[in-house]
Amino acid sequence: MNCDVKTVIAPVNIAVIKYWGKRDEELILPLNDSVSATLDTSVMCAKTSVCANPHFAEDEIWLNGKKESFSNQRLQNCLKEIKQRAYNEKSIDDIFLTWKVHICSENNFPTAAGLASSAAGYACLVTALAKLYKVKSDISSIARLGSGSACRSVYGGFVRWHAGVNPDGSDSIATQIADSSHWPQMRALILVVGDTKKKISSTIGMKRSADTSELLKYRVQYCVPKRTDDISKAIKEKNFGKFAEITMKDSNQFHAVCMDSYPPYVYLTNISHTIIDLVHKYNEISGETRIAYTFDAGPNACLYLLENEVPKVMSLIQHIFPSSSDKFVTGLNFKEEGLNEE
Ligand code: PMV
Repeated sequence: MNCDVKTVIAPVNIAVIKYWGKRDEELILPLNDSVSATLDTSVMCAKTSVCANPHFAEDEIWLNGKKESFSNQRLQNCLKEIKQRAYNEKSIDDIFLTWKVHICSENNFPTAAGLASSAAGYACLVTALAKLYKVKSDISSIARLGSGSACRSVYGGFVRWHAGVNPDGSDSIATQIADSSHWPQMRALILVVGDTKKKISSTIGMKRSADTSELLKYRVQYCVPKRTDDISKAIKEKNFGKFAEITMKDSNQFHAVCMDSYPPYVYLTNISHTIIDLVHKYNEISGETRIAYTFDAGPNACLYLLENEVPKVMSLIQHIFPSSSDKFVTGLNFKEEGLNEE
């Protein structure tokens, strides 16, 4: 290792079976399995550069051009764990592990607005650090220490994060259900409804729901296991109707859990609900399910649909929301690999 800068680009992933609730706050171990699709980096991605140098006095980080504190525990955990792996794997000389690092990261989309910015950000950071320290083993469990959903952005295509059962989190890792070439017609359309920072962070929301929501307990025990198996099957069989139905039901249940928490909290806005109604109307008129919506911890919609449906849906959306058409972004195509070195 020398003072080389390592730069990595990482994609956003949008869950179709949502992760919501932790069984271990520090190790970021989820209550349930989750499933997501990894989007193309050409539209939404994080970009991170890392560099270690014997002359750096401190570890330092810049996010979207602004210097931030390095005291963030999750950030420190990721760096510590990568260095530990490098030490175990003997991938570099020990002396390099004592050098301080500088990290520079940016997103090309709104941060913390429910657009999976932390997933791309931590997947990117951990991959860049793994390249710097020449770590070769699976890093999804380290990305998980930054932000749970980040472990899914380490892989492309359709990805499942296994909740695992081990108390140390060693089996809480992401695996690929199918790579991007499996269902090349699949598209994601991101509708940016609002780009302000969410009021309730996912960490606070998950804790409140785990502490107070009866529905979350029911969801984890009775709904998610079957949905996860069924959607994996629908993906493998390229059954869009089934895939879409499960995706929408799971998004709705996640937002119902937010309302079932005490005090309740809400991420969806009137525009989000207009989009939900529009999708159901569109499917009803089509006589089959051709679009699915899903919403993370924010008002922005991700629509999953097949390629031949995109022009019609794009013009419909622009017709209904003419003034905000410049805010709509298409996240098309799935990547072969989750992460790219620039
Ligand atoms: O990984 P976090 O803490 O950003 O939580 C992500 C939670 C959801 O985006 C709402 C669901 C998911 O599985 O990505």
